[in-house]
Amino acid sequence: MSKMDIYYFSGTGNSLHVARELQRRIPEAKLIPIVSLLDHEIIEIHGDRVGFVFPTYLSSVPGPVKKFLRKLEFKSTPYVFAITTRGGDLCLANLNLEKLLKKKGQTLDSFFILTMARNQPTGLKPSFTPSDKDWIHRITQDEISKLEAIIQSQLDLIQKVIMAREKVSEADTSHPFASWLMGPADFASEHSNTQIKYYADQDCTGCGICEKVCLSRKIKIINNKPEWQKDIKCYYCYACFNFCPVQAILIRNSKNSYFEKSGRYFHPEITAEDIAGQK
Ligand SMILES: Cc1cc2nc3c(=O)[nH]c(=O)nc-3n(C[C@H](O)[C@H](O)[C@H](O)COP(=O)(O)O)c2cc1C
Repeated sequence: MSKMDIYYFSGTGNSLHVARELQRRIPEAKLIPIVSLLDHEIIEIHGDRVGFVFPTYLSSVPGPVKKFLRKLEFKSTPYVFAITTRGGDLCLANLNLEKLLKKKGQTLDSFFILTMARNQPTGLKPSFTPSDKDWIHRITQDEISKLEAIIQSQLDLIQKVIMAREKVSEADTSHPFASWLMGPADFASEHSNTQIKYYADQDCTGCGICEKVCLSRKIKIINNKPEWQKDIKCYYCYACFNFCPVQAILIRNSKNSYFEKSGRYFHPEITAEDIAGQK
């Protein structure tokens, strides 16, 4: 039987849900959490099909996923596919992915974008108008159900494409400025999120769920309160913010502060234990 490994990264469960739903269609596929491998110096890739599933961050590939890709050593020449989940904005992740894989002598055979619920309430409004910085979108159950129906039919097609080793690209790269925007998007996804400052308010009960789901291990509960350790780089996955059971985690930064108690989201079929299980 052919070997298929699917490496995934997920802060709030959308990408993990997609990886699981794909595995349900392809039972021989093995799911491997990217975070569990980040301490390795080299990650060897064997087998004849390899997939990467991750969220789009700032139109690009999340920092920890890039770190993982830089460690890959291909021991075979597999069919490579990637699936990114996003909240609905321009996605150039395929360009960054192609660049990183090229350095490893590999091509990206197929690329798919699945639009799901946005896990940050203050993401960019799709129209890119000046009022975007104040834009807040609270996803409804109805929207989540509609998006889920679409991704289920997309996954049926993706399964067929992968099994037939076809080359399909659902990229946004027909955007007129795609190649110009790729460099800044790549840079931003690695650096500009460092402006985000999370903190816990008086509602915090010290339950420790934020520490548990923190994929970078930046959060430590000290004196019954979460502390974001300064010397550890945050992955900006928004898991702490979204999984807090009392919405005590808020955001203070120069542009997009968020002090409201509504607007949290994680995938309804994914638990805090599932997210923590990636470590
Ligand atoms: C730091 C950060 C940056 C994001 N940037 C984008 C973006 O550029 N475009 C977009 O459509 N969605 C963006 N999103 C939304 C996520 O891509 C989307 O909600 C994704 O499905 C979350 O996946 P996960 O639940 O597996 O973590 C961003 C989310 C975060 C946390």
